[in-house]
Amino acid sequence: MTSGGWDPQGDRLAARAIAAGDTTGWFEELYAGGVRGEVDMPWDRTFPHPLLAEWAEREGVRGAGRRAVVTGCGLGADAEFLTGLGFRALGFDVAESAIKVARDRHRGSGTEYAVGDLLDPPADWIHAFDLVVDVITVQALPEPPRHTAIVNVGRLVAPGGTLLVIAYRSDGSTYVVPPWPLTRAEIDAYGTDGLVPVRIEELTIDGGDLTARWRAEFHRPH
Ligand SMILES: C[S@@+](CC[C@H](N)C(=O)[O-])C[C@H]1O[C@@H](n2cnc3c(N)ncnc32)[C@H](O)[C@@H]1O
Repeated sequence: MTSGGWDPQGDRLAARAIAAGDTTGWFEELYAGGVRGEVDMPWDRTFPHPLLAEWAEREGVRGAGRRAVVTGCGLGADAEFLTGLGFRALGFDVAESAIKVARDRHRGSGTEYAVGDLLDPPADWIHAFDLVVDVITVQALPEPPRHTAIVNVGRLVAPGGTLLVIAYRSDGSTYVVPPWPLTRAEIDAYGTDGLVPVRIEELTIDGGDLTARWRAEFHRPH
């Protein structure tokens, strides 16, 4: 039996880890608690993020064997969606337990999963992906290292490729626990390293306390 809410447990683990100078270690602790059944599985989503699915349909996105990556992929629903669109998709996450669950859930799907750190991506991922999808990842990180993570997401995009960012949107409030929603300046910061903005949307989703979202698309010219 779980004690339920992974969210308060995440807040506790994040506060403790960040106070100790470790900004990413708590994700593994939280997912490992989910695997052990101590809390519900965090960020447990079996369908693509609705703003990703809507964008893909609107833009008529098809993979046609091109490479895609999902940063901070968690349990893999968005990476699986991209595989379904015909991409050769990689999902990576800093939390080993999340990657194990993603592999177990989607065995045989063709999606590749890897443990990887956005703050130190392997050299062969740089400028390597035709589509990079970043869904509610960076707002779970404080500053620093948030800016480094933002810039590194953009560095994954290949020449001619696309970056799609879906993130919590700041309304200017002070946020005490994660997620720390992104400001417009932080969204603009994705557009470094030669990426150019295509469309930056300010959206509102249904339900919950924090309903403001960014959906931002960038392109790297050839
Ligand atoms: C808010 S959760 C969202 C998970 C998933 N993207 C989703 O939408 O369900 C943030 C995710 O980012 C991952 N993450 C945080 N920092 C990371 C880093 N430096 N490198 C890779 N993944 C990271 C966490 O482990 C976690 O799975």
